[in-house]
Amino acid sequence: MRNLYYFQSADAVSAEKIRGTIAVVADVLRATSTIVTALYSGCVYIIPVKTVQEARRAVQFHKRQDILLGGERNGRRIDGFDLGNSPQEYSADSVDGKIVITTTTNGTKALVNAAAARETVVLSFLNMSAVAEYVAQQEENVSVIAAGDHGDTSIEDAVCCGFFIDKLYHHVPQDLRMSQAAQKIAILAREYSGKIEQLLQESPHGQFLQRCGYGSDLITCAQIDACAIVPLYADGRIEITNKN
Ligand code: MLT
Repeated sequence: MRNLYYFQSADAVSAEKIRGTIAVVADVLRATSTIVTALYSGCVYIIPVKTVQEARRAVQFHKRQDILLGGERNGRRIDGFDLGNSPQEYSADSVDGKIVITTTTNGTKALVNAAAARETVVLSFLNMSAVAEYVAQQEENVSVIAAGDHGDTSIEDAVCCGFFIDKLYHHVPQDLRMSQAAQKIAILAREYSGKIEQLLQESPHGQFLQRCGYGSDLITCAQIDACAIVPLYADGRIEITNKN
């Protein structure tokens, strides 16, 4: 029997609890949706870091032509960076064959905070079924982490995690013991079935992004299973595991 735990924000992640588990991290608006889009568009790998300084230092350290700096603070591109955090910026034209170093407010923090896990998988609505299938095939306990917002819960991340938990449960019903928090989130998510775009539009962060002029990102991030890839974060980089 495998245990499944749920963490409602990057700050809630307990290294002790997630040690040895397979961690699944979601930041729907927009870090994990953007990471999935970038890899799907041909980006070779992504290095997530917590701070702007670390990102700038990493670029100098690697000294390569094919590196791009991406990410956001307050939703907007950081001064001197090549790209912001809009999935639409990460098309094949801009990232195919490139390495991306990225830092975002909550998403990259959640990924880095999950370092104690046995392995970490990047989840969004875009790759929901592929990740559920992959995790169902592993033997380990599972830690589902919603990046949230500055330690608080984010409805879109909670619903994405709830969908994932429900899907995983359908793959391995006899083999999953969920924490109460995980069960609650799976039940909550069912209310939003077929209404993801509306959920993103009505969520506080979705409204903020619309005010910043990123309204079309919400449509991109709401597409379920548009990119059937499993990005795995290990040894400091995120790469696709199921490349053909
Ligand atoms: C985050 O990491 O907090 C987000 O991805 C912010 C955003 O770009 O919308």
